[in-house]
Amino acid sequence: MPTITFANSKGGSGKTTSALLLACELATAKPVTLIDADPRHPVTAWAKLAGAPKNLSIVTNESEKTILDEIEAAAASSTFVVIDLEGTASRLSSYAISQSDFVIIPMKEQQQDANAAITVIEEIHRDMKAVRRTIPFAVLFTQTKVVAKSRTARFVSGQFRQSDKVDTFLTEIHERDAYSAIFAAGGSVRDLSAKEVNNLEAAILNAQDFAAEVIDKLRRHRDAAKEVA
Ligand SMILES: Nc1ncnc2c1ncn2[C@@H]1O[C@H](COP(=O)(O)OP(=O)(O)OP(=O)(O)O)[C@@H](O)[C@H]1O
Ligand SMILES: [Mg+2]
Repeated sequence: MPTITFANSKGGSGKTTSALLLACELATAKPVTLIDADPRHPVTAWAKLAGAPKNLSIVTNESEKTILDEIEAAAASSTFVVIDLEGTASRLSSYAISQSDFVIIPMKEQQQDANAAITVIEEIHRDMKAVRRTIPFAVLFTQTKVVAKSRTARFVSGQFRQSDKVDTFLTEIHERDAYSAIFAAGGSVRDLSAKEVNNLEAAILNAQDFAAEVIDKLRRHRDAAKEVA
């Protein structure tokens, strides 16, 4: 059962938000476990509010000593396992990446985020060597402007989009009220009220597109692995 990890040692790059959007979206159809491996436990706090999807189980990670067992147990009981990592590189991150079928690297279109994303990609390559298998990964641009992107933003994302070594998501997670509102209101973006949140419909569609692209990438990587075998 696919395990999808969100990793970037740069704080505030959008890991928790994108992990939660994906987990809620996948949980509309299948059982999902979201492992909250950030010591500040933002997802656990969100889950204490009302409205978490029925199909979504939250596991609060205890420590680097327990993460492998937590992933194994989650993979046995859920169709998808999503892991939200802390904002620093650690042994815990390496353990989680080593067990992943796919790693998503969320980043803002800013140079500091780009530098951190490159560091994460290097870490993934070391983890691949350690476990002697390919671990697919892709960069996800987050908190992007819907209109009037700056030249810097275009330049930063262009560096990744034009690279033939790094896969990127076509879907961007735009900066949206709805995506910060879920952490105060609980539940998923689908549960928010259009009267209270701007552009809710666009936010729901954006989350759906993201989940669909994740599924598509997982399928492609699974098919590519079959061809090699
Ligand atoms: N797409 C978005 N639209 C609006 N707000 C966002 C979006 N993504 C993230 N934010 C806000 O930006 C802040 C940082 O986002 P988030 O917590 O997802 O990043 P993170 O990478 O998990 O950070 P950390 O490294 O601290 O765990 C939060 O306050 C969050 O609500
Ligand atoms: Mg986080």
